[in-house]
Amino acid sequence: MSQPVFLFDLDGVIVDTAVYHYQAWKRLAQELGFDIDEEFNEQLKGISRVDSLHRILEHGQVVLTEADFDRWATQKNTWYLELIEEMTPQHLLPGVADFFANCRTNGIRCGLGSASKNAPKILEKVGLLEAFDALVDGNSVSKSKPDPEVFLKGAELLGVEPARCIVFEDALAGIEAAEAAGMKSVGIGDPTVLTQATMVIPGFLNVTVNDILTKINNQ
Ligand code: BG6
Ligand code: MG
Repeated sequence: MSQPVFLFDLDGVIVDTAVYHYQAWKRLAQELGFDIDEEFNEQLKGISRVDSLHRILEHGQVVLTEADFDRWATQKNTWYLELIEEMTPQHLLPGVADFFANCRTNGIRCGLGSASKNAPKILEKVGLLEAFDALVDGNSVSKSKPDPEVFLKGAELLGVEPARCIVFEDALAGIEAAEAAGMKSVGIGDPTVLTQATMVIPGFLNVTVNDILTKINNQ
C-alpha cells in the first residue's frame, strides 16, 4: 500500500498551548463571575473560539449582547496571545521535533488540521512551519470539530483519499472528527479519555513512524 499521510492537530499535540487556552478562558469566566475547571475544559479542546465562548457562557448561565460577546472573544485572544508571545522551538512537546524529522526520512507527508486562527503564528514561533506540506486552520474552515471539515480539507489539499490519512489528536472532538472523516486516529493523552481513538500514545517521546504504522495497522 502507498504511504499514508499524517494530519496533525496543533494545540496539545505539537505544542502545549492547551494550558494557555485554559488559563485565558478561566480568567474570562472569573471576570464574568463564575469559574471553570479542568474537567469542563476537556470539552473546549479542539473547539473554535466562538463555540468555546458559547459553551462557557452557557456553563456560567451568562447572557451577553452580540457586541459584548465579540468583545470578550477578542479579550480572550488578547490574553492568549500574551501567553504565547514567549514561545520558541523549546516549547515543542517532547519528541515532536524528532518525530517530524522521522516523517521526512520516511517520506511521509504532513498536514495541519487545527481549529486555531493563531496556528501559522505558533508554527512560525516554534520553527515548524516548513515541516508541513499543507495547512488547514481556523481561518479556512467554517465548522468546528467534531465536524470532519478540517481533516477532509487537509486530505483534499494533499490529494489523497481520507482512508489514507492518519490523524494525531488530543481532543475528544478531534477524534470524533477523524472518525467522521473516515480516517484512523492516534490519540495523544489518556486512553481512558480518548476511548474512540484507533490507538493512543502519551506523547511523541521515543516514538517512531514505524511504531505508529505497525501498531495502527494491527488494530
Ligand atoms: C483549538 C484549541 O486548537 O483551537 C481550542 O484546542 C481553541 O482550545 C481553538 O479554542 C481556536 O483557537 P484560536 O487560537 O483561534 O482561538
Ligand atoms: Mg488539540
